[in-house]
Amino acid sequence: WGASGGKGKPLGFTGVPVSVADAVVVPPEYEAQVLYRWGDPVGSAAGAPAFRADASNSWQEQALQSGMHHDGMEYFPLDKNPRHGLLAVNHEYTDDGLLHPDGMKTWSADKVRKAQAAHGVSVIEIAERQGQWRVVPQSRYARRITATTPMVLAGPAAGHALLKTDADASGTRVQGTINNCAAGQTPWGTYLTCEENWNGYFSAREKPGADEQRYGLRHGGWGYRWHEHDERFDAARHPNEPHRFGWVVEIDPFDPAQAPVKRTALGRIKHEGATTTLSRDGRAVVYMGDDERFEYIYKFVSRDKVRPGGYRANRELLDHGTLYVARFDAQGYGRWLPLVHGDNGLTADRGFASQAEVLIRCRQAADVAGATKMDRPEWIAVHPQTGEVFVTLTNNSQRGQPGRAQGETVSDANPRADNIMGHIIRWREGDAQAGDAAALEFRWMHFALAGDPQADKPEHRGNIRGDIYGSPDGLKVDAGGLLWIQTDVSTSTLLQGAYRNMGNNMMLCADPLTGETKRFLTGPSGCEITGIAFTPDRRTVFINIQHPGETASERSDPAKPAAVSTWPDGQGSRPRSATVAIRRKDGGLVGT
Ligand code: FEO
Ligand code: CA
Ligand code: CA
Ligand code: CA
Repeated sequence: WGASGGKGKPLGFTGVPVSVADAVVVPPEYEAQVLYRWGDPVGSAAGAPAFRADASNSWQEQALQSGMHHDGMEYFPLDKNPRHGLLAVNHEYTDDGLLHPDGMKTWSADKVRKAQAAHGVSVIEIAERQGQWRVVPQSRYARRITATTPMVLAGPAAGHALLKTDADASGTRVQGTINNCAAGQTPWGTYLTCEENWNGYFSAREKPGADEQRYGLRHGGWGYRWHEHDERFDAARHPNEPHRFGWVVEIDPFDPAQAPVKRTALGRIKHEGATTTLSRDGRAVVYMGDDERFEYIYKFVSRDKVRPGGYRANRELLDHGTLYVARFDAQGYGRWLPLVHGDNGLTADRGFASQAEVLIRCRQAADVAGATKMDRPEWIAVHPQTGEVFVTLTNNSQRGQPGRAQGETVSDANPRADNIMGHIIRWREGDAQAGDAAALEFRWMHFALAGDPQADKPEHRGNIRGDIYGSPDGLKVDAGGLLWIQTDVSTSTLLQGAYRNMGNNMMLCADPLTGETKRFLTGPSGCEITGIAFTPDRRTVFINIQHPGETASERSDPAKPAAVSTWPDGQGSRPRSATVAIRRKDGGLVGT
């Protein structure tokens, strides 16, 4: 299988250099337009409160405005129109230092309500005229989904005893979705939003049990302080509430009255994204990463075929099927291991009484099945013509360090100790030619080891053909077959050490045939670049700037909001995460 090499077309844009400017920089023949910032009205008919620059909007107003920390995103054309559609945007988490006028100096139930209202998803209606995109006001589709929106649990684990709480004896009704990281679009036109670091919002018992520890639950949580005013997030009092998070959530963007559905058949992990393709016989195949050091890559294959007729015809498609986890073997071979109760050691005497328990304790099930521990699986992209699959492994500074367990030393698929730069793996399903996404075997190889040839240590140098980058995260193959890579270098390592030559986070474009890689965009200070989405005509690409101005302590100091970044509003203003629309000035195809 000779995927590398071959004849590609040269990337047809002017590459941009690394940058430390507090700005979005694109090639000179392109223009970038800020479309939807934290605090901008979502455009619903229920009201359009204007953003207050001192962050004094109430929680009720926040619930009608864009949330914070934009992440995964998808474009849904209306009437197949590439210039008029819906954009579904994740709001991964909040920086409460910026969210309130005095940050977290004081703390109250209303501040918790505002933080919860700034989480979740936006669905906005957008339209382009003469190259300018705008958010349509008073849209009948526009809505905010937050950490308190009523939703439904469906699939094999719904109603299980581990999902029942004092507030929901049925185990099927949940409030809200949190830490929505990457996303996906289904062939039947729905949005899949993915719950990643949900554990950080819960305060567990002083001494969490093994199952709680496996998902990172700890006493006090990560500092969101929701449990102080919303007892649902006090897991010592409500130990089953955390079981109701960690799922893929399906949203019908065309039906603002739909209750979003948490799809338990896809497993409970720290979901990065959910990328859907079709098997050869027309079933849905969903690829998913669990983003933590030494976690796994999963795929779900539906039992039934996708039917024409949109969501109405495919309402239960993601409730029936088989969940698999990946084992990367030597010499480029790999195998999908079914996580099915009774198979692969997933039996009652190993602690799995039912399929529901396999799905709720999905990480433990994958441990038993013998999956390969990866270097933080982030986004997964499928090539629309070849069916080839790409995954970003963003980094893992603990790989191969002294005292690590079996499977945590260097392996064929994760070949570098102290892997601070990350890598991208590509695979083909089935044997080298077959390419059926439902296959149980695959052939894999590295696409690139990220790094800087000038780095001091050989293991940080990588083998990129072209412009350098590290910590790849967002990933998409466009309809023309170009691979787009977005980076998320942590603010604690940005511009330092082996990252000193790389500047701010960026987006690059690569040719899967030749590996040629060229830098397309650089972002403002302290941000990550994420959320890549194309219009179907490839004349606009939307991206998200997340957490501009973030400092290494993660939570910004409200006394000095402008110290690191004032993007996008400029001098003296609070930095705001935002969606940016990018077009070629001549209206041509992006990237070509
Ligand atoms: Fe939310 Fe793994 O990035
Ligand atoms: Ca990510
Ligand atoms: Ca990341
Ligand atoms: Ca992030």
